[in-house]
Amino acid sequence: PESTGYETILVDRPRPGVARITLNRPKALNALNLQVMGEVTAAAAELDRDPSVGAIVLTGSAKAFAAGADIKEMQPKSFSDVYAADWFAGWDALTRVRTPLIAAVAGYALGGGCELAMMCDVLLAADTAKFGQPEITLGVIPGMGGSQRLTRAVGKAKAMDLCLTGRTMGADEAERAGLVSRIVPAADLVDEALGVAEKIAGMSTPAAVMVTEAVDRAFETTLTEGVLFERRLFHSTFATADQKEGMAAFVEKRPPIFRDV
Ligand code: CAA
Repeated sequence: PESTGYETILVDRPRPGVARITLNRPKALNALNLQVMGEVTAAAAELDRDPSVGAIVLTGSAKAFAAGADIKEMQPKSFSDVYAADWFAGWDALTRVRTPLIAAVAGYALGGGCELAMMCDVLLAADTAKFGQPEITLGVIPGMGGSQRLTRAVGKAKAMDLCLTGRTMGADEAERAGLVSRIVPAADLVDEALGVAEKIAGMSTPAAVMVTEAVDRAFETTLTEGVLFERRLFHSTFATADQKEGMAAFVEKRPPIFRDV
């Protein structure tokens, strides 16, 4: 039912506990216009509210994850237009999704496409993936977090190189730099991503959400505060039935059955 009404994305549930959002504007290489932003954030929020969804895969096509924000939509805008609309701020809604998000990137992930992938919790790349922040070639700069998330992911030198020259970086370089966690042959990308999502969906949901909160905190705070935050969350897992089940299952040498409570 969640697919109804969307025109720029497809939403389905290909595996138990796993939902998939597929960007689907093939003629524009999945350029991210206002409609895509509205649909992706609405679909992700709806899936996030559904307790049967334990992980969400976000993907595009073989040619393009997304070739950036929609340049044709932005071209006529004035400063007042983009400032008044707080252009791109709506994408922040995706970072408030608590269900683990797995980006599966094949082909172009440029500008807003790279930034969208970096908003996800796990980033998997096909060997065909090409990442970049080419905004400078248009006389603008990244606007969906690229200068911040790319710098945190790959460090200052490479972030400056990519953002100042607009060059693209292939999957190998992206993995070496720490932007992506795995490279997969293009033909296997979606299967691999769904497998990762299924595995995460099979974990205790409270534990999975807590671990994303703890890792994300590393980018927001000092080591002392982050380690304390982690330890308090760790303590709180002992309030869950899943901690009892997980540890009992280990001791009894059987697989755990998590109930997400
Ligand atoms: N916005 C709007 N339309 C786009 C687009 C974009 N970002 N990227 C591609 N398209 C459109 C093209 O205009 C073309 O449409 P027409 O057939 O109507 O001409 C169609 O998609 C196919 O694209 P190409 O013919 O260019 O395909 P290609 O294979 O020759 O080249 C490409 C692929 C190198 C990715 C090239 O399309 C390209 O350079 N795209 C723009 C990349 C870019 O600059 N992205 C950053 C956008 S700004 C941004 O994202 C701001 C931000 O921080 C959020």
